[in-house]
Formats: sequence, structure tokens, C-alpha cells
Amino acid sequence: MTAPSWRATVLTLFPEMFPGPLGHSLAGRALETGRWALEAVNIRDFAQDRHRTVDDTPFGGGAGMVLRPDVVDAAIGAVADAHGASPRPLVCLTPRGRPFSQADARRFATEGSGLILLCGRYEGIDQRVIEARGAEEISIGDYVLSGGELAAMVLLDAVVRLLPGVMGAAESATEESFSTNLLEYPHYTRPAEWQGRRVPDVLLSGHHAAIAAWRQAEAERITRERRPDLWAAHRSPHCVAQAAP
Ligand code: ADE
Repeated sequence: MTAPSWRATVLTLFPEMFPGPLGHSLAGRALETGRWALEAVNIRDFAQDRHRTVDDTPFGGGAGMVLRPDVVDAAIGAVADAHGASPRPLVCLTPRGRPFSQADARRFATEGSGLILLCGRYEGIDQRVIEARGAEEISIGDYVLSGGELAAMVLLDAVVRLLPGVMGAAESATEESFSTNLLEYPHYTRPAEWQGRRVPDVLLSGHHAAIAAWRQAEAERITRERRPDLWAAHRSPHCVAQAAP
């Protein structure tokens, strides 16, 4: 088997958390077939003292601990150099980052040979190493996780499914629908009546044009109700070029 052409390296204090959910389902199958590779590297291995210290108290005071720039820089240097020629973007997962979008997922899947993901813990990472290494700070949502590991898994799942050959036709169609900034219409299967609830008649009609029109109207209604921001993007003339959810 040839070496995977897309590689993810995760820098973390908890390498045993990986692959975790990424070892299952679509991403897991793609890992097994060598479509991508994942390595989790322990930041603590790059500590510079015999106590293996990775963090210290924040200058200026305050609660919590901050990851030291020298330790994080050594970890980044080790993995960036090890894979040679084509540099991979460095992403730092943090609630202070720019919100992650489907457009980012497409960019990471198509533009580079992989990613280096830096997972923060404690109160954060010394800002100087983030700047010195040109890391892109990304958040997966407006809530605070205990660390960047789950965020890195979410980001990787969204990217890996977009690598050529990973998705089947059904999943591709779902992804395609997001490029119009509309949420998906609701889905139904057998039985046609369940606990007194009937599937909408039109879906049983066999009338393909009517079904398509119903699905489009439902997608629009749900987007309007739940996500006014996406609805506005859908209605704008630049719709297809906009960042999808
Ligand atoms: N680390 C902690 N919370 C996070 C979030 N919401 N997104 C990315 N990384 C995080």
C-alpha cells in the first residue's frame, strides 16, 4: 500500500484519546484503507526539564495554567520537520478562534497534504508561539470544552469525509445541498404510519416533481425558522460562494 497522501498530526497532552470516534464509521474505514493517516503526539514528550513540565502560571495573574511556548514550539518543530517537503497548515483549536465552517473543511480537504492540529488544555497556550508559528486559531462553536481534543476530532471528521473517494453517493448529495446554504428537508421511511403519525402524503405519491418541490419548500421553511443567518446568505446573490454551515 502506498503512503497516505493526506496526513493529520494532533499535538495533545492526551494522545490516548485518538483515534477515538475517528476509528469508526466513514473516517475509520478511510483510515483502515490508508486514504488518510492519523498520528497523535504527546506535547509532554517535548518538555525541557526532568519533571516534564509543560505549563506555568499566567503572567499578570489569574486562574489556571498556560502551556509554555518553548515546549509547544519544540513539539510543532518535530512534527513539521519530520514530514518534509509540503508544509501542512497548523490549526490551533480554541474557543477564541474563528468559527469553523464547511468552507474551511473543503479548503483543508483540497488544498494541502494534511493538517497539524494543536490542542490546548488548561487556560490556553502562550500567544507568542501561536503567532510565531502562524497558527490558524479555530473554534467549533460558542461553548467551552475541556480541551481542543474533541474539537480536533470534529474538525477532522468534517474534513476527512470530503477527501476524494471517502464519501459514497448518498453522503455526497447531503454535502452538496449545504453549498446552497439551506438546511436539509426532513426524512421518512417505513412504516408509513407510526404511533398515529403519517408520512406526508406527497412522499407516497410517486410524483417526482411534486416531491422535489415539497422538499425544497421544507428546506426553505426550516432554514428560515431555525437559521435566519443562513437564510439571508441563501437569499443573497453570492449564495453558492458563501461559507456553508
Ligand atoms: N477548546 C475548548 N473549547 C473549544 C471550542 N469551542 N472550539 C475549539 N477548541 C476548543
